[in-house]
Amino acid sequence: MHQNKHKNTNRHQPVLLQEVLTYLTPQQGDTYLDVTAGYAGHASEILARTQAPQSAVLVDRDTEAIEYLQTKCDPAVTLLNADFLTAAKQLEKEGKRFDCILADLGVSSPHFDKTSRGFSVQTDEPLDMRMDQRQSLTAADILNSYGEVELIELLKEYGEEPKARQIATRIIEHRPLATTKQLADIAVSVWGRGKKHPATRTFQALRIAVNDELGLLKAALPIWVRLLSPGGRIAIISFHSLEDRIVKQAFAERSGKRYDAQLKLLTKKPVTARPEELVFNPRARSAKLRAAAKINTKNTEGQ
Ligand SMILES: C[S@@+](CC[C@H](N)C(=O)[O-])C[C@H]1O[C@@H](n2cnc3c(N)ncnc32)[C@H](O)[C@@H]1O
Repeated sequence: MHQNKHKNTNRHQPVLLQEVLTYLTPQQGDTYLDVTAGYAGHASEILARTQAPQSAVLVDRDTEAIEYLQTKCDPAVTLLNADFLTAAKQLEKEGKRFDCILADLGVSSPHFDKTSRGFSVQTDEPLDMRMDQRQSLTAADILNSYGEVELIELLKEYGEEPKARQIATRIIEHRPLATTKQLADIAVSVWGRGKKHPATRTFQALRIAVNDELGLLKAALPIWVRLLSPGGRIAIISFHSLEDRIVKQAFAERSGKRYDAQLKLLTKKPVTARPEELVFNPRARSAKLRAAAKINTKNTEGQ
């Protein structure tokens, strides 16, 4: 990594950093793929250990994150401004293999902190929520075009929102919606005020839908496993139960006593943050880390 001259240092505090290093065990010369590189919190520590920028690939679908990485990374590092499914397909086509793969899912702190992106329940911004600014679909498009049944399903499935029906009805009554405050106020009008902001689940549901977060994860996971070199390690950090379930299942389907097992689980249960980390990094509260190592080199599943 270059000496950091960028003015936005420490934009994003990496979660479970020590645990990631323990499970990925990056060694000098290791090839490294980070599919959600963000602001290189994890990547800078891993690259400091591999000392191999020429065989590292950092991916992020957010152009602002990539621009930041350009200022921060050794120019030998490959940066890909793409979603991690597209990137994985490309890397597989190129025949690449990696000793360490990291996925730290979801959004970064600047997504919440920067005005205009529409991720935060606390501010009043356009209803955007796109991680990739080149994409056309926004949260406003979904809120203003979905039918009532579709909205209820979205809120239930992606937000696990118990009052999905009432919120969907009010969304339709208040259309067209343009700002995050309008949406947050609808959730408040249904729930009243509580300790946790009542719009948190609604915002999560929309963010997942706008960015097709679960669909991309499900499709990318098998390719990430194929991209591992023999003995290679993969670590995935998720932030809600929907993601964790997908990771758990994908790992379970490829490990254990089955004849075609490709993975050895390194974490029987998901690893969570130590109390010391929670003191300085509240984002780590919901983080769950699962890790596995590649054991079977002959399997050509899905190719
Ligand atoms: C939690 S942050 C990663 C932070 C990073 N590990 C660090 O320490 O700085 C997640 C990042 O992944 C990106 N991201 C989320 N989903 C993605 C996807 N499907 N494809 C590519 N990037 C994605 C987001 O734009 C965000 O920058």
